[in-house]
Amino acid sequence: MNILIVDDDRTNLFIMAAIVRRLDDVEPVSMESPLDAVEWLRGNEPDLILLDQMMPDMDGMELLRHIRDDGRLDNVPVVMVTANTAVDIRVRALDEGCNDFLTKPVVVPEVQARLRNLLALRQSRALLRDRAALLADEVERVTAVLQRQGEELVKRLSRASEYRDPETGAHIERMALYSRLIAEAAGCGAAYAQELMKAAPMHDIGKIGIPDMILLKPGRLTPEEMTVMRQHAAMGHRILANSDIPLLRLAAEIALSHHEKFDGSGYPNGVAGTGIPLSGRIVAIADVFDALTSTRPYKRSWTLEEARAYLVQNRGRHFDPSLLDAFLSRWDEVCRIHHENADELAHPVPLDV
Ligand SMILES: [Fe+2]
Ligand SMILES: [Fe+2]
Repeated sequence: MNILIVDDDRTNLFIMAAIVRRLDDVEPVSMESPLDAVEWLRGNEPDLILLDQMMPDMDGMELLRHIRDDGRLDNVPVVMVTANTAVDIRVRALDEGCNDFLTKPVVVPEVQARLRNLLALRQSRALLRDRAALLADEVERVTAVLQRQGEELVKRLSRASEYRDPETGAHIERMALYSRLIAEAAGCGAAYAQELMKAAPMHDIGKIGIPDMILLKPGRLTPEEMTVMRQHAAMGHRILANSDIPLLRLAAEIALSHHEKFDGSGYPNGVAGTGIPLSGRIVAIADVFDALTSTRPYKRSWTLEEARAYLVQNRGRHFDPSLLDAFLSRWDEVCRIHHENADELAHPVPLDV
């Protein structure tokens, strides 16, 4: 450690430096001129500063003010050496951030004891700061790990559903991108939009509970089969609900609400308007738009314009009007997402996570 000593009197400077040298592991940095000290402090942080109060050019009080104005040196203790025992000077110095005083003529053991105490205090403070920084880093690291684990879980669940769902991975990809786009365009904030994009791929996870003969049936479903098929919303919700992972809770909300319609004619609960969670209202637009513009075994793909016209026709019926407007306001990006994420294969293939 080092102690900066500032004193215009060479003899005093020499004596103080000698006293400081006798402390363990401490080196003095001696300065005769307070202006030199100010200059030196610009590029250095001592462990303690010892100031003479009476100096020409700049007295100890002014130098103290300089030191305390510099935020970098907040944790450096300052001891003022003064011949003046007047209480008002000491109070003023304390107000300005001085930590302790030494009275001339100095008593060597007293100087050493005071310096030792202040240095020990500074060391333990630094230790606490280091520990706090270490803990903050650790918390950040663990939070990032948890976040990654949540995301990986979501990816794996989505992959599991791809094995059962005739819809391709590209559909999942596109509808997730459309969902983020709508959330951004509607002013939901980048963080929510990002979470929505990650959670949306699980909207149909409940289909793993639907029998093959219904899920994979090439033709139209009978009303009875349709009733079974519709259970995928509640099943998906049951799979994902009540998780401690926020992303899974959002995914559960989407699974339950992505087939609700704005006019209340959807399923499973027939909720209407803003009674449907925002996530469900957004994903409904993304999911339907992409289903229409994709080729499925039972239908050709609609053109983007045809799908757009369908959405507009159902504005306020199936879809939340303001969210639909937000989607359409980004039409160029919608087209780009559609073209850049074309279906590659008719059947999904497992990939490494
Ligand atoms: Fe669905
Ligand atoms: Fe879908």
